[in-house]
Amino acid sequence: MLKGKTVVIGVSGSIAAYKAAEIISLLKKLNAEVKVIMTKSSTRLIGECTLQTLSNNPVYTDMFSEPFRWEIDHISLAKSADVFLIAPASANIIGKIASGIADDMLTTTVMATEAKIFIAPAMNSKMYLNPIVQKNMEFLKSIDYKFIEPGSGILACGDEGIGKLASPQDIVDVVAGYLTSKQTLKGKKVLLTAGPTIESIDPVRYITNHSSGKMGYAMAREAVSRGADVTLVSGPVDIDPPKGCNVIRVKSAVEMNEIVLRESEDSNIIVKSAAVSDYRPKITHDQKIKKSNDDFVLELERNPDILKNLSKIKKSGQVLVGFAAETENLIANAKSKMEEKQLDMIVANDVSLKHSGFKSDKNKAVILIRGGEKKELELMTKQELSRIVFDEIEKL
Ligand code: CTP
Repeated sequence: MLKGKTVVIGVSGSIAAYKAAEIISLLKKLNAEVKVIMTKSSTRLIGECTLQTLSNNPVYTDMFSEPFRWEIDHISLAKSADVFLIAPASANIIGKIASGIADDMLTTTVMATEAKIFIAPAMNSKMYLNPIVQKNMEFLKSIDYKFIEPGSGILACGDEGIGKLASPQDIVDVVAGYLTSKQTLKGKKVLLTAGPTIESIDPVRYITNHSSGKMGYAMAREAVSRGADVTLVSGPVDIDPPKGCNVIRVKSAVEMNEIVLRESEDSNIIVKSAAVSDYRPKITHDQKIKKSNDDFVLELERNPDILKNLSKIKKSGQVLVGFAAETENLIANAKSKMEEKQLDMIVANDVSLKHSGFKSDKNKAVILIRGGEKKELELMTKQELSRIVFDEIEKL
């Protein structure tokens, strides 16, 4: 995806420096050329050797002992960059760049580059909110430096607040999105569902399934990176939604049905990766059910089939995509779901396979497309699968 593109990463002295390793590794997986510059203080927080091995390139540090080489390298590095990413960026490095200070390898190279510069800050929340840091960031934004905003949470120092480095995946998505400039879904509304539904029996018990939401969230991330206007209707899950999408949280299938039908009105693409419970308890008790010595029979009634409902009101030009979770007869079962729900595409996965399906980060899928085309895919990450699915959707 990023073959032929060079990302120069500047790692500064924030405690989150170790996360640079994951950022580099994710960029390498996308086939980018990665070159790393470390500030002196960052080398005390993560080893040069680690970043050298992951980036497969020499790591540049503050080589004051070799001024000649340093002079040449900072210009050639600056020129080679398609994107310059500073992650993590400390208050100090942001301040230096904003003030035009160029006194080490990183700040000198930043000053010499014509590439787009992305800055992912990470620091203590009091430092982040300090008016000087805020003013420096405002200034850099005003001259078109792009910030990948930090999140909130418990910070390394034990404080709670803003200043946590954005997730490596979010950072890489932003950079990759810029590099591919694949704004192929700009102006399109994409409606996605993810996760399980939960169907209450009483105030303490419910019926659900093993869906983690990872597949649907990966799909949302991909749609965002293609510039779409994304609405994600999510059942209860433990993962953070990707930045830049509108998240609507629901619990039951009935709630999901209502929201999805409402949101589908002006959607161009609808992808249902949620694992919707087909049944719900006929009675939801207001109070906790007390045990007795007898067997307990729970009577269930059918939930709406959301995809089927969508197919009944489908507008011309709308693309409807389903997922099929199967444990046997994968293709035959997926095919009949595709026909029954009148889908344009179905992504079938065998959830009984090891290292694939529910809860896993990977998936092995077969894509069936309206008109009879079939694509059998290898085991791959859910993010990679999302890319392939959206490539196919765009063809439709
Ligand atoms: N789906 C839905 N509403 C339901 C059940 C499923 O919209 N009540 C959607 C899912 O989001 C998925 C597709 O239909 O995109 C197939 O879901 P799956 O659970 O694999 O199959 P079911 O249609 O429920 O059939 P079965 O449980 O018999 O395999």
